[in-house]
Amino acid sequence: MNSVFITGGTSGIGLELAKIYLSKGWKVGVCGRDKEKFHQNFEAKRDNIHFYPVDVADREALKAAILNFSKPTGLSLLVASAGMSYPHKSKIPDFERTYRMVHVNLLGLMYAFEAALEIMIPQGSGQLVGISSLAGFNGFPGISGYSATKSGVIKFCETLSMDLKPLGIHVGCVCPGFIDTPLTKNNHHPMPFLMSAHKAGMIIYRSIERKKHLTVFPFFFGVLVRVLAILPRFIYRRVMGTKAINYSKENQKEISK
Ligand SMILES: NC(=O)c1ccc[n+]([C@@H]2O[C@H](COP(=O)([O-])OP(=O)(O)OC[C@H]3O[C@@H](n4cnc5c(N)ncnc54)[C@H](OP(=O)(O)O)[C@@H]3O)[C@@H](O)[C@H]2O)c1
Repeated sequence: MNSVFITGGTSGIGLELAKIYLSKGWKVGVCGRDKEKFHQNFEAKRDNIHFYPVDVADREALKAAILNFSKPTGLSLLVASAGMSYPHKSKIPDFERTYRMVHVNLLGLMYAFEAALEIMIPQGSGQLVGISSLAGFNGFPGISGYSATKSGVIKFCETLSMDLKPLGIHVGCVCPGFIDTPLTKNNHHPMPFLMSAHKAGMIIYRSIERKKHLTVFPFFFGVLVRVLAILPRFIYRRVMGTKAINYSKENQKEISK
């Protein structure tokens, strides 16, 4: 039986993926800290879904959850979607929140991959997918910590996609633009090309099926961000310094008061 463990599978992108895999008859495991979110979304379809109330920043607890879920069926796919961002962009980093983001967005993903590999390496097969962001392609103003964690995810996945291939393990990375989920509902800036979580879930599902190494969407936003990534950095800094694009501007005003 095919099985997937999704960190952060109780809300937003992870939730959409969990629903899709359930509808395809997979055994699905999800983790999150808030049990209520799980009950709200999965009460009616309990048979094939397993919930683990785990913080992904807790390496041992996450490992225990993934190992428990994988018995005795093994593990076909792990999607590391659990993540956090800041609703308020700031020029001066909120360091406490930044450290927490490193723990959740980057280390949490590594802990999940580490545990999954304990099963997939002896199995000789499996698929690991990291949910990064378009914010990982450049250092974007106001979101230094978020950009850093998501950039780390892209590079971590890229390296593993080569290193783990001989072991039969496929690694992919997904970089969405703005998706309409609880994560973005408190954003106070424009969100170009905002996409529904359902549509994003379908795009990610198809990219996992096709074993894509890197999935970037929405298309035009992705092209724009990747063009920014290849610009000479002095031009990039000029472009990002313009008021229309620099999302940290409101906060700059607050700081200068
Ligand atoms: N929404 C976007 O526009 C967007 C764009 C690009 C990339 N992304 C990335 O996509 C991923 C999913 O985001 P989303 O928009 O779906 O967010 P979301 O709706 O807020 O869902 C986040 C999920 O992660 C879980 N989670 C958060 N912190 C956790 C922790 N410490 N331990 C365990 N679970 C945790 C949450 O459950 P609990 O709160 O119960 O723990 C929830 O299930 C994130 O990595 C995010 O950075 C999102």
